[in-house]
Amino acid sequence: MIIVVGIGADGMAGLAPASRAELARATVVYGSRRQLELLDGTVTAPRRAWPTPLLPALGTLLDGGDADVHVVASGDPMLHGIGSTLIRLHGPDKVAVLPHVSSVTLACARVGWSVQDTEIISLVWHEPHTAVRRGGQAVVLSRDGSTPAELARLLTDAGRGDSELTVLEQLGGPKELRRTSTAREWAARPPADVDDLNVMAVRYLPDVRVLGTLPDDAFAHDGQLTKQMIRAATLAALAPRPGELLWDVGAGSGSISIEWCRSGPGCRAIAFERDEARRARITENAVAHGAGVEVRFDAPESFDSSPPPAAVFVGGGVSRPGMIDACWERLGPGGRLVANAVTVESEAVLAQWYSRVGGELRRYQHYRGEAVGSFTGWRPAMPVTQWSVTKPDTT
Ligand SMILES: C[S@@+](CC[C@H](N)C(=O)[O-])C[C@H]1O[C@@H](n2cnc3c(N)ncnc32)[C@H](O)[C@@H]1O
Repeated sequence: MIIVVGIGADGMAGLAPASRAELARATVVYGSRRQLELLDGTVTAPRRAWPTPLLPALGTLLDGGDADVHVVASGDPMLHGIGSTLIRLHGPDKVAVLPHVSSVTLACARVGWSVQDTEIISLVWHEPHTAVRRGGQAVVLSRDGSTPAELARLLTDAGRGDSELTVLEQLGGPKELRRTSTAREWAARPPADVDDLNVMAVRYLPDVRVLGTLPDDAFAHDGQLTKQMIRAATLAALAPRPGELLWDVGAGSGSISIEWCRSGPGCRAIAFERDEARRARITENAVAHGAGVEVRFDAPESFDSSPPPAAVFVGGGVSRPGMIDACWERLGPGGRLVANAVTVESEAVLAQWYSRVGGELRRYQHYRGEAVGSFTGWRPAMPVTQWSVTKPDTT
């Protein structure tokens, strides 16, 4: 068995009797240097600091024989912690977890928030802009002491400088420290002495959250934008599921990527766009919406170096020779492909693919009521042809 013992910044003093007993009987204890240093003389087993890279070492932890192996980890090991990784690698029957109070629970207790009303965001492995939100509250796990200043700057640049930022360091330990300011103030004068062990409690202001498809003016764009109503129909066809990766080919302003990322936990996107100014705009839009969008150069040239997608959306370049073939090829069984066309040439490509492999062909045409003198008339938007298909299982 692997026994994972959660430990707080208060070290052995804060441990429950069962956790102490486990560490006292251990024959070897693994952990990060910081956690191993918290152990006192009651733990007599040799202490082994994790090597880099960590993952291969975790996979071979039980290779030494039948003896139990002990691991110390910060707070609740099942919250963005090593407990979940070990269970994924060895299975739940081989791993026992003794949780401590998590930094999120401690942060909520300090600022007076209910845990269930608070989003949990980790920047330990994710880009800082993925913690930008348009309202609500979150506890954000920092990568190190510089993360609060980075997030404060991003929030300020995205027009959310009024957000209330509480940085909580060394929670539960003798050196616990809490500082509160607006993101704008923190960005203007970032303290130089922030401990690496910190989390942030952020109330995002102004609160302008929208749950449905965003209006067009929520994105910076040069006209290359899938408009709101067609975007809604496109997202319905793409049918995102939690944790899935989208390839957004010919991404324009990145609006489809961003809506995809907003649609569920863990949803990520790679936006392929050949125009440099548009690539910069996609990044700007992704930051403003806190979306985990990675921007890449041309499609299909950069497909080979990209992780495989669960779904592909082709919003640009449909008529480019070989484009749909390249997307289709990279899609695994069960993967979805949705392509929108507004020109006769690209529509012809979609019609051919529809005849060859099936799926659904749809055509959207909508009108907006607009003033015609003192009356109202219908202004047509360009019709959009949409082909959507699920790749069959080849076996
Ligand atoms: C890999 S995650 C592990 C979280 C941990 N499992 C928990 O329950 O708190 C590490 C993050 O937690 C933060 N963290 C862990 N203990 C902390 C403490 N006592 N005070 C402030 N932040 C803490 C770190 O700064 C980092 O952002």
